[in-house]
Amino acid sequence: MLARSLYKLSNPIRKFSTDLIKPKVTCLFHNDTNTATYIASCPETGKCAIIDPVLDYDQVGHRVTTIHADSVIAEVTKNHLEPVYILETHVHADHLTGAKILKNAFPSAQTAIGFNVTAVQVQFSRLFNLSNFRTDGSQFDKLIKDGESFSIGKLNLKAFWSPGHTPACMVYTVGDAVFSGDTLFMPDFGTARCDFPGGSADVLYQSIKKLFELPDEYRVFVGHDYGTEKRGVAWESTMGEEKRNNKHLNLSTSRDAFVQWRKERDGTLKLPKLIMESLLVNLRNGELPEPEANGISYFKLPINAL
Ligand SMILES: [Fe+2]
Repeated sequence: MLARSLYKLSNPIRKFSTDLIKPKVTCLFHNDTNTATYIASCPETGKCAIIDPVLDYDQVGHRVTTIHADSVIAEVTKNHLEPVYILETHVHADHLTGAKILKNAFPSAQTAIGFNVTAVQVQFSRLFNLSNFRTDGSQFDKLIKDGESFSIGKLNLKAFWSPGHTPACMVYTVGDAVFSGDTLFMPDFGTARCDFPGGSADVLYQSIKKLFELPDEYRVFVGHDYGTEKRGVAWESTMGEEKRNNKHLNLSTSRDAFVQWRKERDGTLKLPKLIMESLLVNLRNGELPEPEANGISYFKLPINAL
């Protein structure tokens, strides 16, 4: 479990002040996994970050394809953008990352994820009984620290460690845009589950309360949306809307009420259908498992283990 003392070391989000330049944000929604992939670009330089790309996987045919990643490449190329980072908000358990495909297309871009991916790698390499698996995060070009900031052209990206859903979740702010991953969903979908290994409803409460220190006018771009009949699929809200109306955790929600509700709810949820394949690829930053002597990659799936 995540040590709370470790969590307290994280930087106050208030230090993350406003930026003058606002990024252009494009969402390429992946319908099969309800995932929002974003391109956040500097309007002055064309440099951009790609956030949470997807690799298509057909679980029946056991086949990966690059349809969605190709659409991201086409969008970047069409707009003459230059990716400088390919970012993950966390080790996803519901879709395979397209980071490797994008890195191949844009070799000068750095792939990056939160520093605590190492804890996730240790945990799941045990579950999968992986031998010779590196658990130091070295599959990624860069591990991002809590509070770290770096440039995307004239934009400033600031990273915020937001554990709870997983121990390695990060939220990225780029100008006034907040890429919340699975830490906050649209107000009418609330928050993500906290019952995966290393997850904690109590810690998620603290992470979201810290996010709520951001200004109301900041745009929030969520990691997933499941749509409703009335509004269809959506991926953008504001920090003010989240603070007022998030159905699971808003400014008036007590810690005890949230933790109790989240635990009860999580007790009713099935595992995501792509969890094992996703973890096996995402822990490797988008690489398929090492091919065996016949040149074929295999997914090794634990039975009755979660
Ligand atoms: Fe997730």
